[in-house]
Amino acid sequence: MSTEPNTRITSRFHRMSTALEVVEGVDLRGRHVIVTGGASGLGFEASRALAKAGASLTLGVRNAAQGDEAVNRIGEETGHRDIRVATLDLADLASVQRFVDAWLARNQPLHVLINNAGIMACPLTRTAAGWESQFATNHLGHFALTRALLPSLLAADAPRVVALSSSGHRLSPVVFDDIHFERRDYNKWKAYGQTKTANALMALHLDTLHAKDGLTANAVHPGGIHTGLSRFLPREEMEAMGWIKPGDAPGTIPPGFKNAEQGAATSVWAATAPELQGHGGLYLEDCNEAIASPEGERRFGYVPHIRDRAAAERLWAVSEAMLAQA
Ligand SMILES: NC(=O)c1ccc[n+]([C@@H]2O[C@H](COP(=O)([O-])OP(=O)(O)OC[C@H]3O[C@@H](n4cnc5c(N)ncnc54)[C@H](OP(=O)(O)O)[C@@H]3O)[C@@H](O)[C@H]2O)c1
Repeated sequence: MSTEPNTRITSRFHRMSTALEVVEGVDLRGRHVIVTGGASGLGFEASRALAKAGASLTLGVRNAAQGDEAVNRIGEETGHRDIRVATLDLADLASVQRFVDAWLARNQPLHVLINNAGIMACPLTRTAAGWESQFATNHLGHFALTRALLPSLLAADAPRVVALSSSGHRLSPVVFDDIHFERRDYNKWKAYGQTKTANALMALHLDTLHAKDGLTANAVHPGGIHTGLSRFLPREEMEAMGWIKPGDAPGTIPPGFKNAEQGAATSVWAATAPELQGHGGLYLEDCNEAIASPEGERRFGYVPHIRDRAAAERLWAVSEAMLAQA
């Protein structure tokens, strides 16, 4: 269900709130949560906060050893042991299917799915299906995962799906004529932007389809946070964009950026906030519903192409067709 502009959902949290602050007083015992990419970056911080609130957690990770390390760390820091790792490579549909099969074999409802994993601005590579890797990982893998987990989500009381989008959505709509850069020059930023638009559109259409079943799906911009996401960016490019300054010590957080605990706050808010119950199809940032960006504004808000319901429906159909042909 979408909200009208005059019913914007807000909270007492803000830009600097942390994921742990968001779960203070929240009881997630008995609620099953999957976090993709939960072993590092924002996924790790979200998982730590959700563990603190007592959720039964499954981290979908590429690297099982890294996942085990994350589970141990979270267990030691929170005392919470109801947390496990399952291997998941979103760029490999067989891996997604194995993850889903293992989940469904547990025969339990899925209360929250946080589609967090992602890659950004990598050189052009293609998956075995010939798909551009950012689109395959960030969107199609999560689309396949979400669709296959729907029975489990719809068996849960008030299920939620959280899609990690980004302010990078403004770099590109979904270019339906050439999603996989087969007829246009590859541009790593347009490719990333296209996927982050796709993440928001998927949440929008999922909500359109299943709000009637009690499911709430929202998209999140976490803020700017230095994480492993920038692994493909040369230092000079990050300096040119103002993300780091020459001579900055490792770990310096530049003005306008957040730390990882703050960066995970909006995902955790989207996954747990009572005030969001039944309010889906939104784009959230800084633990509030975002507004449309005023003309010329690039730092906050969203641009219209992520609110385009026709594009959201089309993307759903196109994604289904791609999976069917893979
Ligand atoms: N950081 C920011 O400033 C920012 C801003 C806007 C949006 N976001 C979004 O926030 C999300 C989390 O990003 P982050 O900053 O936490 O980045 P990160 O530290 O690089 O974490 C990304 C996670 O995704 C996993 N991943 C990558 N490819 C995968 C695949 N094929 N299958 C399964 N997992 C895969 C990574 O696993 P490995 O360790 O195996 O690589 C890692 O755990 C992303 O969707 C990103 O687009 C981040």
